[in-house]
Amino acid sequence: MDKKLLASFVLLLSFGFVPTAWAQKAVDSEGHQWWQHAVFYEIYPRSFADSNNDGVGDLSGITSKLDYLKQLGVDAIWITPCFPSPQVDFGYDVSDYENIDPMYGTLKDFDRLASEASKRGIRIILDFVMNHTSDKHPWFLDSRSSKSAAHRNWYLWRDGKGAGQPPNNWESTFGHSAWTLDPKTNQYYYHYFYPQQPDLNWRNPAVEKAMFDVTRWWYRRGVAGFRLDAVDTLFEDPDLRDNPVLAGTNKYGDPNMEDKYNKKLPEVHEVLQDLRRVADEHGAVLIGETWTDDIDELKQYYGEHSNELQMPMDFMFTEINKLSPPKFRKQIAAVDSAGGWPVFVISNHDIVRSYVRYGDGQHNDRIAKLMAGLYLTLRGTPIMYYGEEIGMTNNDATRQEEVKDPIGKIGWPEEKGRDGERTPMQWTDGPNAGFTSGKPWLPVPPTSTSHNVASELKNPNSILEFYKRLLALRHQSRTLLDGQYIPLNQDDPNVLSYLRKYKHEMVLVALNMSEEAHKVSFDLSGQGLVSPKSKLLLTTASEPRKDGALRELSLEPFEVYLAEILK
Ligand code: GLC
Repeated sequence: MDKKLLASFVLLLSFGFVPTAWAQKAVDSEGHQWWQHAVFYEIYPRSFADSNNDGVGDLSGITSKLDYLKQLGVDAIWITPCFPSPQVDFGYDVSDYENIDPMYGTLKDFDRLASEASKRGIRIILDFVMNHTSDKHPWFLDSRSSKSAAHRNWYLWRDGKGAGQPPNNWESTFGHSAWTLDPKTNQYYYHYFYPQQPDLNWRNPAVEKAMFDVTRWWYRRGVAGFRLDAVDTLFEDPDLRDNPVLAGTNKYGDPNMEDKYNKKLPEVHEVLQDLRRVADEHGAVLIGETWTDDIDELKQYYGEHSNELQMPMDFMFTEINKLSPPKFRKQIAAVDSAGGWPVFVISNHDIVRSYVRYGDGQHNDRIAKLMAGLYLTLRGTPIMYYGEEIGMTNNDATRQEEVKDPIGKIGWPEEKGRDGERTPMQWTDGPNAGFTSGKPWLPVPPTSTSHNVASELKNPNSILEFYKRLLALRHQSRTLLDGQYIPLNQDDPNVLSYLRKYKHEMVLVALNMSEEAHKVSFDLSGQGLVSPKSKLLLTTASEPRKDGALRELSLEPFEVYLAEILK
Protein backbone atom coordinates (compact mmCIF):
# COMPACT_ATOMS: atom_id res chain seq x y z
CA MET A 1 0.00 0.00 0.00
CA ASP A 2 1.50 3.40 -0.85
CA LYS A 3 2.02 5.89 1.97
CA LYS A 4 -0.72 8.31 0.94
CA LEU A 5 -3.26 5.53 0.70
CA LEU A 6 -2.22 4.15 4.06
CA ALA A 7 -2.51 7.59 5.64
CA SER A 8 -6.06 8.13 4.37
CA PHE A 9 -7.00 4.62 5.46
CA VAL A 10 -5.78 5.30 9.00
CA LEU A 11 -7.59 8.66 8.96
CA LEU A 12 -10.85 7.02 7.95
CA LEU A 13 -10.55 4.42 10.68
CA SER A 14 -9.77 7.05 13.28
CA PHE A 15 -13.13 8.68 12.52
CA GLY A 16 -15.01 5.42 12.89
CA PHE A 17 -15.31 4.91 9.15
CA VAL A 18 -15.01 1.39 7.80
CA PRO A 19 -14.48 0.26 4.24
CA THR A 20 -17.60 -1.27 2.71
CA ALA A 21 -16.01 -4.68 2.21
CA TRP A 22 -15.62 -5.04 5.97
CA ALA A 23 -19.23 -4.16 6.50
CA GLN A 24 -20.22 -7.10 4.27
CA LYS A 25 -18.48 -9.84 6.22
CA ALA A 26 -20.84 -12.42 7.75
CA VAL A 27 -19.77 -11.42 11.27
CA ASP A 28 -17.43 -8.53 12.06
CA SER A 29 -14.77 -8.34 14.77
CA GLU A 30 -17.35 -7.00 17.24
CA GLY A 31 -19.84 -9.76 16.58
CA HIS A 32 -22.23 -7.85 14.33
CA GLN A 33 -23.94 -10.05 11.82
CA TRP A 34 -23.96 -9.12 8.13
CA TRP A 35 -27.67 -8.31 8.17
CA GLN A 36 -27.16 -5.70 10.87
CA HIS A 37 -24.98 -3.72 8.50
CA ALA A 38 -26.88 -4.42 5.33
CA VAL A 39 -29.37 -2.28 3.46
CA PHE A 40 -32.24 -4.44 2.21
CA TYR A 41 -34.32 -3.65 -0.85
CA GLU A 42 -37.71 -5.16 -1.55
CA ILE A 43 -38.44 -6.09 -5.16
CA TYR A 44 -41.92 -6.85 -6.40
CA PRO A 45 -40.80 -8.98 -9.35
CA ARG A 46 -43.85 -8.33 -11.54
CA SER A 47 -42.94 -4.67 -11.55
CA PHE A 48 -39.19 -4.28 -11.42
CA ALA A 49 -37.72 -4.94 -14.87
CA ASP A 50 -39.16 -6.83 -17.82
CA SER A 51 -36.47 -8.58 -19.88
CA ASN A 52 -38.78 -10.30 -22.39
CA ASN A 53 -41.23 -7.44 -22.89
CA ASP A 54 -44.37 -9.36 -22.00
CA GLY A 55 -45.43 -6.54 -19.67
CA VAL A 56 -44.51 -8.41 -16.49
CA GLY A 57 -41.13 -8.17 -14.77
CA ASP A 58 -38.91 -11.23 -14.39
CA LEU A 59 -35.77 -12.61 -12.77
CA SER A 60 -33.52 -11.81 -15.73
CA GLY A 61 -34.82 -8.27 -15.50
CA ILE A 62 -33.65 -8.15 -11.88
CA THR A 63 -30.25 -9.57 -12.90
CA SER A 64 -29.88 -6.80 -15.46
CA LYS A 65 -30.35 -4.19 -12.74
CA LEU A 66 -27.88 -5.54 -10.18
CA ASP A 67 -25.29 -2.92 -11.06
CA TYR A 68 -27.85 -0.22 -10.42
CA LEU A 69 -28.64 -1.73 -7.04
CA LYS A 70 -24.99 -2.03 -6.17
CA GLN A 71 -24.34 1.61 -7.03
CA LEU A 72 -27.34 2.62 -4.99
CA GLY A 73 -25.89 0.89 -1.93
CA VAL A 74 -28.07 -2.19 -1.63
CA ASP A 75 -26.64 -5.29 0.08
CA ALA A 76 -29.57 -7.68 0.00
CA ILE A 77 -32.69 -7.99 -2.12
CA TRP A 78 -35.93 -9.49 -0.87
CA ILE A 79 -37.91 -10.78 -3.82
CA THR A 80 -41.63 -11.19 -3.12
CA PRO A 81 -42.94 -14.64 -4.17
CA CYS A 82 -41.65 -15.71 -7.57
CA PHE A 83 -42.71 -19.37 -7.30
CA PRO A 84 -45.26 -21.09 -9.54
CA SER A 85 -48.63 -19.65 -8.69
CA PRO A 86 -52.06 -19.09 -10.23
CA GLN A 87 -51.36 -15.43 -9.29
CA VAL A 88 -54.71 -14.87 -7.58
CA ASP A 89 -52.81 -12.90 -4.93
CA PHE A 90 -49.91 -12.18 -7.28
CA GLY A 91 -47.66 -14.94 -6.02
CA TYR A 92 -48.85 -15.12 -2.42
CA ASP A 93 -50.74 -18.23 -3.50
CA VAL A 94 -47.96 -20.72 -4.11
CA SER A 95 -48.61 -23.96 -6.03
CA ASP A 96 -45.01 -25.24 -5.94
CA TYR A 97 -42.50 -24.00 -3.37
CA GLU A 98 -39.44 -25.38 -5.11
CA ASN A 99 -39.57 -23.82 -8.53
CA ILE A 100 -39.87 -20.49 -10.35
CA ASP A 101 -43.07 -19.35 -12.05
CA PRO A 102 -42.49 -19.51 -15.83
CA MET A 103 -43.69 -15.91 -15.99
CA TYR A 104 -40.57 -14.97 -14.05
CA GLY A 105 -38.17 -17.43 -15.68
CA THR A 106 -36.62 -20.73 -14.65
CA LEU A 107 -34.51 -22.15 -11.86
CA LYS A 108 -31.56 -21.59 -14.14
CA ASP A 109 -32.44 -17.90 -14.29
CA PHE A 110 -32.62 -17.91 -10.51
CA ASP A 111 -29.18 -19.50 -10.25
CA ARG A 112 -27.77 -16.91 -12.61
CA LEU A 113 -29.36 -14.12 -10.60
CA ALA A 114 -27.93 -15.61 -7.40
CA SER A 115 -24.45 -15.96 -8.81
CA GLU A 116 -24.39 -12.48 -10.39
CA ALA A 117 -25.73 -11.01 -7.15
CA SER A 118 -23.09 -12.83 -5.14
CA LYS A 119 -20.34 -11.47 -7.39
CA ARG A 120 -21.51 -8.01 -6.37
CA GLY A 121 -21.81 -8.85 -2.69
CA ILE A 122 -25.62 -8.76 -2.84
CA ARG A 123 -27.52 -11.45 -0.92
CA ILE A 124 -30.91 -12.87 -1.84
CA ILE A 125 -33.88 -13.19 0.48
CA LEU A 126 -36.98 -15.05 -0.67
CA ASP A 127 -40.53 -14.73 0.56
CA PHE A 128 -41.83 -17.71 2.51
CA VAL A 129 -45.60 -17.97 2.36
CA MET A 130 -46.09 -20.19 5.37
CA ASN A 131 -49.68 -19.72 6.40
CA HIS A 132 -51.36 -21.03 3.27
CA THR A 133 -50.80 -22.52 -0.16
CA SER A 134 -52.65 -22.01 -3.39
CA ASP A 135 -55.80 -24.10 -3.81
CA LYS A 136 -53.97 -25.51 -6.86
CA HIS A 137 -51.05 -26.84 -4.81
CA PRO A 138 -50.90 -30.66 -5.13
CA TRP A 139 -51.21 -30.92 -1.31
CA PHE A 140 -54.55 -29.14 -1.40
CA LEU A 141 -55.76 -30.93 -4.53
CA ASP A 142 -55.20 -34.20 -2.71
CA SER A 143 -56.60 -32.81 0.54
CA ARG A 144 -59.90 -31.84 -1.02
CA SER A 145 -60.24 -35.09 -2.99
CA SER A 146 -61.71 -37.14 -0.12
CA LYS A 147 -62.06 -37.19 3.65
CA SER A 148 -59.51 -39.99 3.82
CA ALA A 149 -56.92 -38.40 1.52
CA ALA A 150 -53.30 -38.52 2.67
CA HIS A 151 -53.18 -34.72 2.83
CA ARG A 152 -56.66 -34.22 4.30
CA ASN A 153 -55.26 -33.15 7.65
CA TRP A 154 -52.74 -30.76 6.07
CA TYR A 155 -55.48 -28.14 5.93
CA LEU A 156 -58.43 -27.27 8.19
CA TRP A 157 -61.62 -29.06 7.25
CA ARG A 158 -64.78 -28.89 9.37
CA ASP A 159 -68.49 -29.57 9.10
CA GLY A 160 -70.77 -26.57 8.95
CA LYS A 161 -72.86 -25.63 11.98
CA GLY A 162 -76.03 -26.34 10.07
CA ALA A 163 -77.36 -26.05 6.54
CA GLY A 164 -75.50 -23.25 4.77
CA GLN A 165 -73.76 -22.23 8.01
CA PRO A 166 -69.98 -22.15 8.29
CA PRO A 167 -68.32 -23.75 11.35
CA ASN A 168 -67.99 -20.38 13.14
CA ASN A 169 -68.06 -16.61 12.61
CA TRP A 170 -64.44 -16.05 11.57
CA GLU A 171 -63.94 -13.59 8.73
CA SER A 172 -61.28 -13.53 6.04
CA THR A 173 -59.11 -10.44 6.22
CA PHE A 174 -59.82 -10.12 2.49
CA GLY A 175 -63.58 -10.00 3.07
CA HIS A 176 -66.50 -12.25 4.06
CA SER A 177 -66.45 -15.67 5.73
CA ALA A 178 -63.10 -17.38 6.26
CA TRP A 179 -64.76 -20.71 5.44
CA THR A 180 -65.61 -22.06 2.01
CA LEU A 181 -67.80 -25.09 1.48
CA ASP A 182 -66.27 -27.66 -0.84
CA PRO A 183 -69.08 -29.67 -2.47
CA LYS A 184 -66.83 -32.68 -3.10
CA THR A 185 -66.81 -33.72 0.57
CA ASN A 186 -69.45 -31.32 1.84
CA GLN A 187 -67.09 -29.84 4.41
CA TYR A 188 -65.76 -26.33 4.84
CA TYR A 189 -62.07 -25.39 4.59
CA TYR A 190 -60.52 -22.43 6.36
CA HIS A 191 -58.71 -19.52 4.66
CA TYR A 192 -57.62 -16.37 6.45
CA PHE A 193 -57.03 -14.76 3.05
CA TYR A 194 -58.78 -15.51 -0.28
CA PRO A 195 -60.67 -18.81 -0.76
CA GLN A 196 -57.87 -19.67 -3.23
CA GLN A 197 -55.40 -19.50 -0.29
CA PRO A 198 -56.35 -22.38 2.05
CA ASP A 199 -54.60 -22.28 5.44
CA LEU A 200 -52.13 -25.04 6.20
CA ASN A 201 -52.66 -26.96 9.43
CA TRP A 202 -49.51 -26.16 11.39
CA ARG A 203 -50.61 -28.53 14.18
CA ASN A 204 -49.80 -31.37 11.82
CA PRO A 205 -46.07 -32.27 12.17
CA ALA A 206 -46.00 -33.42 8.53
CA VAL A 207 -46.80 -29.86 7.44
CA GLU A 208 -44.02 -28.46 9.57
CA LYS A 209 -41.54 -30.98 8.20
CA ALA A 210 -42.49 -30.34 4.57
CA MET A 211 -42.36 -26.58 4.99
CA PHE A 212 -39.04 -26.60 6.84
CA ASP A 213 -37.63 -28.76 4.07
CA VAL A 214 -38.61 -26.05 1.60
CA THR A 215 -36.41 -23.57 3.44
CA ARG A 216 -33.49 -26.07 3.48
CA TRP A 217 -33.88 -26.59 -0.24
CA TRP A 218 -33.50 -22.87 -0.94
CA TYR A 219 -30.69 -22.39 1.58
CA ARG A 220 -28.76 -25.03 -0.29
CA ARG A 221 -29.36 -23.01 -3.47
CA GLY A 222 -27.68 -20.01 -1.95
CA VAL A 223 -30.54 -18.07 -0.43
CA ALA A 224 -29.45 -15.98 2.58
CA GLY A 225 -32.76 -15.94 4.38
CA PHE A 226 -36.51 -15.52 4.20
CA ARG A 227 -39.07 -12.88 4.76
CA LEU A 228 -41.86 -14.74 6.54
CA ASP A 229 -45.27 -13.89 5.24
CA ALA A 230 -48.24 -13.46 7.58
CA VAL A 231 -46.63 -15.20 10.56
CA ASP A 232 -49.33 -14.16 12.99
CA THR A 233 -52.01 -16.24 11.31
CA LEU A 234 -50.38 -19.69 11.45
CA PHE A 235 -52.55 -21.08 14.25
CA GLU A 236 -56.24 -21.20 15.05
CA ASP A 237 -58.12 -22.09 18.21
CA PRO A 238 -58.64 -25.87 18.10
CA ASP A 239 -62.16 -25.43 19.55
CA LEU A 240 -63.02 -22.91 16.83
CA ARG A 241 -64.57 -20.50 19.31
CA ASP A 242 -66.44 -17.58 17.72
CA ASN A 243 -64.56 -14.29 17.65
CA PRO A 244 -66.02 -11.35 19.60
CA VAL A 245 -68.10 -9.14 17.32
CA LEU A 246 -67.50 -5.39 17.59
CA ALA A 247 -69.73 -2.46 16.67
CA GLY A 248 -70.01 -1.34 13.04
CA THR A 249 -68.91 -2.85 9.75
CA ASN A 250 -65.59 -2.98 7.90
CA LYS A 251 -64.69 -1.91 4.36
CA TYR A 252 -66.14 -5.12 2.93
CA GLY A 253 -69.45 -4.54 4.70
CA ASP A 254 -68.79 -7.38 7.21
CA PRO A 255 -69.29 -6.91 10.97
CA ASN A 256 -66.18 -5.66 12.73
CA MET A 257 -64.53 -8.40 14.70
CA GLU A 258 -61.63 -9.00 17.06
CA ASP A 259 -59.47 -11.78 15.59
CA LYS A 260 -59.10 -13.27 19.06
CA TYR A 261 -59.16 -16.96 18.20
CA ASN A 262 -57.49 -17.06 14.79
CA LYS A 263 -54.54 -14.68 15.10
CA LYS A 264 -51.40 -14.26 17.20
CA LEU A 265 -51.86 -17.55 19.04
CA PRO A 266 -48.86 -18.39 21.28
CA GLU A 267 -48.05 -21.57 19.32
CA VAL A 268 -46.66 -19.33 16.56
CA HIS A 269 -43.57 -18.79 18.66
CA GLU A 270 -42.76 -22.49 18.90
CA VAL A 271 -42.77 -22.74 15.12
CA LEU A 272 -40.59 -19.67 14.80
CA GLN A 273 -38.08 -21.15 17.22
CA ASP A 274 -37.93 -24.37 15.22
CA LEU A 275 -37.63 -22.47 11.96
CA ARG A 276 -34.82 -20.40 13.47
CA ARG A 277 -32.91 -23.57 14.37
CA VAL A 278 -33.02 -24.57 10.70
CA ALA A 279 -31.98 -21.07 9.64
CA ASP A 280 -29.06 -21.11 12.07
CA GLU A 281 -27.76 -24.33 10.53
CA HIS A 282 -27.39 -22.34 7.33
CA GLY A 283 -26.32 -18.97 8.72
CA ALA A 284 -29.57 -17.50 7.40
CA VAL A 285 -31.65 -14.56 8.52
CA LEU A 286 -35.40 -14.54 9.20
CA ILE A 287 -37.33 -11.34 8.61
CA GLY A 288 -40.89 -11.15 9.82
CA GLU A 289 -44.01 -9.58 8.47
CA THR A 290 -44.92 -8.78 12.04
CA TRP A 291 -47.92 -6.53 12.46
CA THR A 292 -48.02 -5.66 16.14
CA ASP A 293 -50.18 -3.46 18.34
CA ASP A 294 -47.52 -2.61 20.88
CA ILE A 295 -43.86 -2.98 21.62
CA ASP A 296 -44.37 -6.02 23.87
CA GLU A 297 -45.81 -7.96 20.98
CA LEU A 298 -42.88 -6.95 18.81
CA LYS A 299 -40.43 -8.03 21.51
CA GLN A 300 -41.95 -11.50 21.54
CA TYR A 301 -41.02 -12.02 17.91
CA TYR A 302 -37.33 -11.69 18.73
CA GLY A 303 -37.88 -14.62 21.10
CA GLU A 304 -37.30 -14.75 24.82
CA HIS A 305 -33.76 -15.95 24.22
CA SER A 306 -33.23 -14.16 20.90
CA ASN A 307 -34.18 -17.47 19.38
CA GLU A 308 -36.94 -16.47 16.97
CA LEU A 309 -36.72 -13.79 14.27
CA GLN A 310 -33.55 -11.76 13.93
CA MET A 311 -35.46 -9.10 12.00
CA PRO A 312 -39.13 -8.58 12.89
CA MET A 313 -40.26 -5.50 10.99
CA ASP A 314 -41.65 -2.65 13.05
CA PHE A 315 -44.88 -1.74 11.26
CA MET A 316 -45.95 0.58 14.06
CA PHE A 317 -43.37 2.94 12.57
CA THR A 318 -45.26 2.89 9.25
CA GLU A 319 -48.45 3.74 11.05
CA ILE A 320 -47.15 7.17 12.01
CA ASN A 321 -48.52 8.80 8.93
CA LYS A 322 -47.64 12.39 9.55
CA LEU A 323 -44.40 14.21 10.10
CA SER A 324 -44.65 14.23 13.86
CA PRO A 325 -41.36 14.42 15.78
CA PRO A 326 -43.04 13.46 19.10
CA LYS A 327 -44.63 10.36 17.60
CA PHE A 328 -41.46 9.24 15.82
CA ARG A 329 -39.41 9.91 18.96
CA LYS A 330 -41.70 7.73 21.03
CA GLN A 331 -41.73 4.84 18.57
CA ILE A 332 -37.99 4.94 17.89
CA ALA A 333 -37.23 4.95 21.62
CA ALA A 334 -39.53 1.99 22.14
CA VAL A 335 -38.08 -0.17 19.39
CA ASP A 336 -34.52 0.92 20.12
CA SER A 337 -34.83 -0.30 23.69
CA ALA A 338 -36.79 -3.47 22.89
CA GLY A 339 -33.69 -5.62 23.21
CA GLY A 340 -33.47 -6.82 19.63
CA TRP A 341 -32.01 -5.26 16.50
CA PRO A 342 -34.51 -2.70 15.10
CA VAL A 343 -35.84 -3.06 11.56
CA PHE A 344 -37.25 0.01 9.86
CA VAL A 345 -39.50 0.21 6.81
CA ILE A 346 -41.56 3.10 5.48
CA SER A 347 -43.43 1.38 2.63
CA ASN A 348 -44.03 -1.97 1.01
CA HIS A 349 -46.28 -3.69 -1.51
CA ASP A 350 -49.24 -3.58 0.90
CA ILE A 351 -48.88 0.01 2.08
CA VAL A 352 -49.54 3.28 0.23
CA ARG A 353 -46.17 4.67 -0.87
CA SER A 354 -44.36 6.89 1.62
CA TYR A 355 -44.05 9.63 -1.02
CA VAL A 356 -47.82 10.13 -0.79
CA ARG A 357 -48.33 9.31 2.88
CA TYR A 358 -45.90 11.98 4.06
CA GLY A 359 -45.93 14.36 1.09
CA ASP A 360 -47.87 17.62 1.44
CA GLY A 361 -48.40 17.99 -2.30
CA GLN A 362 -45.91 20.88 -2.51
CA HIS A 363 -42.65 19.72 -1.05
CA ASN A 364 -42.90 16.00 -1.73
CA ASP A 365 -39.35 15.61 -3.04
CA ARG A 366 -37.88 17.37 -0.02
CA ILE A 367 -40.05 15.28 2.27
CA ALA A 368 -38.95 12.08 0.49
CA LYS A 369 -35.35 13.02 1.33
CA LEU A 370 -36.38 13.86 4.88
CA MET A 371 -37.86 10.39 5.36
CA ALA A 372 -34.71 8.84 3.92
CA GLY A 373 -32.70 10.98 6.33
CA LEU A 374 -34.74 9.44 9.12
CA TYR A 375 -34.96 5.72 8.55
CA LEU A 376 -31.52 5.33 6.98
CA THR A 377 -29.74 6.99 9.91
CA LEU A 378 -31.37 5.13 12.79
CA ARG A 379 -29.75 2.28 14.69
CA GLY A 380 -31.14 -0.75 12.91
CA THR A 381 -31.55 -2.30 9.51
CA PRO A 382 -33.59 -0.47 6.88
CA ILE A 383 -35.64 -2.27 4.27
CA MET A 384 -36.28 -0.06 1.27
CA TYR A 385 -39.14 -0.59 -1.16
CA TYR A 386 -38.27 -0.38 -4.86
CA GLY A 387 -38.90 3.06 -6.31
CA GLU A 388 -38.77 4.83 -2.96
CA GLU A 389 -35.31 6.08 -3.92
CA ILE A 390 -36.69 7.94 -6.95
CA GLY A 391 -39.86 9.28 -5.32
CA MET A 392 -42.38 6.95 -6.91
CA THR A 393 -45.95 7.89 -6.14
CA ASN A 394 -49.09 5.78 -5.76
CA ASN A 395 -51.08 5.31 -8.92
CA ASP A 396 -54.46 4.05 -7.71
CA ALA A 397 -57.12 2.80 -10.08
CA THR A 398 -59.84 5.33 -10.76
CA ARG A 399 -62.43 2.80 -11.94
CA GLN A 400 -63.35 -0.55 -10.45
CA GLU A 401 -62.95 -2.28 -13.85
CA GLU A 402 -59.25 -1.37 -13.88
CA VAL A 403 -58.45 -2.96 -10.52
CA LYS A 404 -56.21 -6.04 -10.56
CA ASP A 405 -55.87 -6.70 -6.84
CA PRO A 406 -58.93 -8.74 -5.75
CA ILE A 407 -59.33 -6.84 -2.49
CA GLY A 408 -59.92 -3.72 -4.57
CA LYS A 409 -62.56 -5.56 -6.56
CA ILE A 410 -64.36 -6.79 -3.45
CA GLY A 411 -63.92 -3.65 -1.40
CA TRP A 412 -64.45 -0.93 -4.04
CA PRO A 413 -64.76 2.03 -3.58
CA GLU A 414 -63.67 2.09 0.07
CA GLU A 415 -60.82 -0.35 -0.57
CA LYS A 416 -59.14 0.37 -3.90
CA GLY A 417 -56.66 -2.47 -3.56
CA ARG A 418 -52.89 -2.36 -3.61
CA ASP A 419 -52.23 -1.84 -7.35
CA GLY A 420 -51.29 1.79 -6.71
CA GLU A 421 -48.13 0.94 -4.79
CA ARG A 422 -47.11 -1.88 -7.13
CA THR A 423 -46.69 -0.06 -10.45
CA PRO A 424 -43.68 -0.63 -12.74
CA MET A 425 -40.29 0.71 -11.68
CA GLN A 426 -39.52 3.97 -13.47
CA TRP A 427 -36.21 3.60 -15.28
CA THR A 428 -36.41 6.32 -17.94
CA ASP A 429 -38.64 9.17 -19.06
CA GLY A 430 -39.57 7.18 -22.18
CA PRO A 431 -42.69 5.09 -22.92
CA ASN A 432 -43.74 2.88 -19.98
CA ALA A 433 -40.89 4.42 -18.01
CA GLY A 434 -38.49 2.05 -19.78
CA PHE A 435 -39.92 -0.89 -17.85
CA THR A 436 -41.17 -2.78 -20.90
CA SER A 437 -41.83 -2.26 -24.58
CA GLY A 438 -44.95 -4.42 -24.17
CA LYS A 439 -48.09 -3.39 -22.31
CA PRO A 440 -47.21 -3.05 -18.63
CA TRP A 441 -49.45 -5.12 -16.35
CA LEU A 442 -50.23 -1.96 -14.37
CA PRO A 443 -50.21 1.57 -15.78
CA VAL A 444 -47.20 3.80 -15.20
CA PRO A 445 -48.10 7.12 -13.53
CA PRO A 446 -47.55 10.40 -15.44
CA THR A 447 -44.92 11.45 -12.87
CA SER A 448 -42.54 8.91 -14.40
CA THR A 449 -41.36 11.57 -16.83
CA SER A 450 -39.84 13.56 -13.95
CA HIS A 451 -39.18 10.76 -11.44
CA ASN A 452 -37.09 8.07 -13.04
CA VAL A 453 -33.62 6.59 -12.65
CA ALA A 454 -32.07 7.99 -15.84
CA SER A 455 -33.14 11.59 -15.22
CA GLU A 456 -32.35 11.52 -11.52
CA LEU A 457 -28.86 10.15 -12.10
CA LYS A 458 -28.16 13.33 -14.06
CA ASN A 459 -29.49 15.66 -11.40
CA PRO A 460 -27.26 16.15 -8.33
CA ASN A 461 -30.27 17.39 -6.32
CA SER A 462 -32.49 14.41 -7.08
CA ILE A 463 -33.95 12.08 -4.49
CA LEU A 464 -31.90 9.26 -6.02
CA GLU A 465 -28.60 11.12 -5.64
CA PHE A 466 -29.51 11.90 -2.06
CA TYR A 467 -30.18 8.22 -1.33
CA LYS A 468 -26.88 7.27 -2.93
CA ARG A 469 -24.89 9.77 -0.88
CA LEU A 470 -26.66 8.84 2.32
CA LEU A 471 -26.22 5.11 1.80
CA ALA A 472 -22.55 5.53 0.94
CA LEU A 473 -22.08 7.49 4.15
CA ARG A 474 -23.96 4.89 6.15
CA HIS A 475 -21.86 2.04 4.80
CA GLN A 476 -18.64 3.76 5.65
CA SER A 477 -19.52 5.01 9.09
CA ARG A 478 -19.20 2.67 12.01
CA THR A 479 -21.06 5.32 13.99
CA LEU A 480 -24.09 5.19 11.69
CA LEU A 481 -23.93 1.41 11.50
CA ASP A 482 -23.48 0.51 15.13
CA GLY A 483 -23.60 3.69 17.18
CA GLN A 484 -25.99 4.10 20.07
CA TYR A 485 -29.17 6.13 19.46
CA ILE A 486 -29.35 9.18 21.76
CA PRO A 487 -32.38 11.44 21.34
CA LEU A 488 -31.83 15.21 21.67
CA ASN A 489 -34.14 18.17 22.29
CA GLN A 490 -37.00 15.88 23.23
CA ASP A 491 -39.58 18.63 23.55
CA ASP A 492 -39.03 20.11 20.12
CA PRO A 493 -42.32 19.76 18.19
CA ASN A 494 -40.74 20.51 14.81
CA VAL A 495 -37.22 19.18 14.63
CA LEU A 496 -36.39 15.56 15.30
CA SER A 497 -32.75 15.30 16.29
CA TYR A 498 -30.50 12.64 17.71
CA LEU A 499 -26.94 11.57 18.10
CA ARG A 500 -25.45 8.34 16.96
CA LYS A 501 -22.50 7.52 19.16
CA TYR A 502 -19.87 4.86 18.68
CA LYS A 503 -17.10 4.84 21.29
CA HIS A 504 -16.03 8.49 21.24
CA GLU A 505 -17.29 9.28 17.75
CA MET A 506 -20.59 11.03 17.24
CA VAL A 507 -22.84 11.91 14.33
CA LEU A 508 -25.64 14.42 14.79
CA VAL A 509 -28.84 14.03 12.77
CA ALA A 510 -31.33 16.91 12.66
CA LEU A 511 -34.52 16.64 10.65
CA ASN A 512 -36.79 19.61 10.29
CA MET A 513 -40.22 18.05 9.93
CA SER A 514 -42.04 21.33 9.39
CA GLU A 515 -42.62 23.57 6.40
CA GLU A 516 -41.07 26.48 8.25
CA ALA A 517 -37.45 27.28 8.94
CA HIS A 518 -36.40 26.62 12.54
CA LYS A 519 -33.47 27.55 14.71
CA VAL A 520 -32.16 24.81 16.94
CA SER A 521 -29.36 24.60 19.46
CA PHE A 522 -27.83 21.52 20.95
CA ASP A 523 -26.57 21.11 24.45
CA LEU A 524 -24.10 18.25 24.36
CA SER A 525 -22.73 18.82 27.84
CA GLY A 526 -24.27 15.48 28.79
CA GLN A 527 -21.74 13.97 26.39
CA GLY A 528 -18.94 15.93 28.06
CA LEU A 529 -18.80 18.48 25.24
CA VAL A 530 -18.85 22.15 26.19
CA SER A 531 -18.45 23.85 22.83
CA PRO A 532 -18.63 21.13 20.23
CA LYS A 533 -18.00 21.87 16.60
CA SER A 534 -19.53 20.23 13.62
CA LYS A 535 -18.15 18.86 10.43
CA LEU A 536 -20.86 18.66 7.81
CA LEU A 537 -21.52 15.23 6.33
CA LEU A 538 -24.70 15.80 4.36
CA THR A 539 -27.51 18.31 4.07
CA THR A 540 -30.44 19.13 1.84
CA ALA A 541 -30.06 22.87 2.54
CA SER A 542 -30.20 25.00 -0.59
CA GLU A 543 -27.55 27.36 0.78
CA PRO A 544 -24.03 26.06 1.34
CA ARG A 545 -23.42 25.26 5.01
CA LYS A 546 -20.23 25.86 6.89
CA ASP A 547 -18.64 23.64 9.48
CA GLY A 548 -18.38 25.27 12.88
CA ALA A 549 -20.01 25.77 16.25
CA LEU A 550 -23.22 23.97 16.98
CA ARG A 551 -24.77 26.56 19.23
CA GLU A 552 -27.40 27.75 16.79
CA LEU A 553 -28.34 26.02 13.64
CA SER A 554 -30.94 27.42 11.25
CA LEU A 555 -32.68 24.63 9.48
CA GLU A 556 -34.54 25.20 6.26
CA PRO A 557 -38.05 23.75 5.86
CA PHE A 558 -37.85 19.94 5.73
CA GLU A 559 -34.07 20.04 5.88
CA VAL A 560 -31.94 17.00 6.60
CA TYR A 561 -28.70 17.87 8.40
CA LEU A 562 -26.01 15.34 9.25
CA ALA A 563 -22.73 16.30 10.85
CA GLU A 564 -19.87 14.71 12.61
CA ILE A 565 -19.30 16.15 16.08
CA LEU A 566 -15.80 17.30 16.87
CA LYS A 567 -14.65 18.14 20.37
C1 GLC B 1 -48.97 -10.69 3.26
C2 GLC B 1 -48.47 -10.11 1.96
C3 GLC B 1 -49.65 -9.70 1.16
C4 GLC B 1 -50.49 -10.93 0.87
C5 GLC B 1 -50.88 -11.63 2.18
C6 GLC B 1 -51.40 -13.01 1.92
O1 GLC B 1 -49.65 -9.76 4.03
O2 GLC B 1 -47.59 -9.06 2.21
O3 GLC B 1 -49.28 -9.07 -0.04
O4 GLC B 1 -51.65 -10.57 0.18
O5 GLC B 1 -49.77 -11.80 3.02
O6 GLC B 1 -50.39 -13.89 1.57
